[in-house]
Amino acid sequence: MYVRPLFFLLALIIHGGAGNLTAADKPTAFYITWFQDPCRTAVIRWITCDNDHGDWLELQKSEPKKANEASQNWYRFKASHKKFPDNRPYVLHSLELYNLSPDTSYAVHLEEYDHIFYFRTLPESLDHPVRFVAGGDTFRDGADVYNNMNRIAASYSPYFAALGGDIAYATTPLPCIKEDTQRWLCMLQGWMNHMVTPEGFSVPLVAAIGNHEVVGWLPNKPEKAAFYYLFFRNPSMTSYFCLNIGDYMSLLLLDSGHTEKVNKTQKDFIEEKLAAAQSMEHRFAIYHAPAYPSARRYNACSSKKMRKHWCPLFDKYQLHIAFENHDHAYKRTPAIKNECPNPKGTVYIGDGCWGIAEPRTPRVCENYWYLKKSASIGHCLIVDLDQKQRTVRAVDWNGKVFDSVTQKVDSVMHPPL
Ligand SMILES: [Fe+2]
Repeated sequence: MYVRPLFFLLALIIHGGAGNLTAADKPTAFYITWFQDPCRTAVIRWITCDNDHGDWLELQKSEPKKANEASQNWYRFKASHKKFPDNRPYVLHSLELYNLSPDTSYAVHLEEYDHIFYFRTLPESLDHPVRFVAGGDTFRDGADVYNNMNRIAASYSPYFAALGGDIAYATTPLPCIKEDTQRWLCMLQGWMNHMVTPEGFSVPLVAAIGNHEVVGWLPNKPEKAAFYYLFFRNPSMTSYFCLNIGDYMSLLLLDSGHTEKVNKTQKDFIEEKLAAAQSMEHRFAIYHAPAYPSARRYNACSSKKMRKHWCPLFDKYQLHIAFENHDHAYKRTPAIKNECPNPKGTVYIGDGCWGIAEPRTPRVCENYWYLKKSASIGHCLIVDLDQKQRTVRAVDWNGKVFDSVTQKVDSVMHPPL
């Protein structure tokens, strides 16, 4: 354990509180993600120029509004670091923390910088409500649109965010042009600076992959989505994974055909994880290309494949909500099972409009059985969970709720049919 006496007091005296800190007090970017249990682990990551290899951070239990009451005992950890691909002059520092306490606030101090970041672990049971935010197609149309939605999403104080691909739009359709590092940095800087709750907590993010994470935009090998894998996966990990939270929530983050095929190992993975999640009260998936598109062609190849290979598994294991993206509009389907409305089915909500300045015009609901609500509105989705129900609210770029859906939690768990 490393003791750092009077740190908070000195920091407050020198800087007059976090609100007056300058950008130089922070690294180029900072974010928190998860590979494992969000109740007891956290992956702390930050980006610096490649001549700054300061890997040390300090951690303590502390709340942002109670910094002056915090213990002066900091636990000191050394992260690892990795250079950016293609000899870009930046370094990603990374440290996975284990054995954290559930539902607890932590302060993180990167030793090279003055700013104190705060984050929360998640509770292990739903003895109080849990909120997260979902959306996709984030940093597409400039920092103003993107950061406005970041601030609206953060104002709801979510525990975390789940993004459904097309995160930074750093690639072009030309396979010979490498990823635009600056777009990734602007996206992550916006997250660091604006995805902060009113209480002062940084909002951790987990992210599925989209077509704009891949050089050339077409399905390809993971090496062609080097920055997505660098920022959100470990090299040994696949682009699809499952985040189980306590005893109440399972979230599948899937690859809708960008660096992994829809109809191969992911099918087994979905079946295995959803079968194991049957005791979870809330079961979700998030991915990029929609099975039920609101604006693009219903029979687009990717949508047909997903309805053929994934949706029957969602039906079999009663996935509650699938968050879809890519179409740059808003849609909510009725609960669907076997490609028909069925109250025991899955509701598909999307369609990827977090940072879109001019949303597409979706199909008109009255003419399509699979659309319950559609709108040409930029939005994020606020998801509230408790022991009795789950509610999703769609919030526009003025912070106004324009649609919502509530599902009751099954009191009896049904075995898969
Ligand atoms: Fe897309």
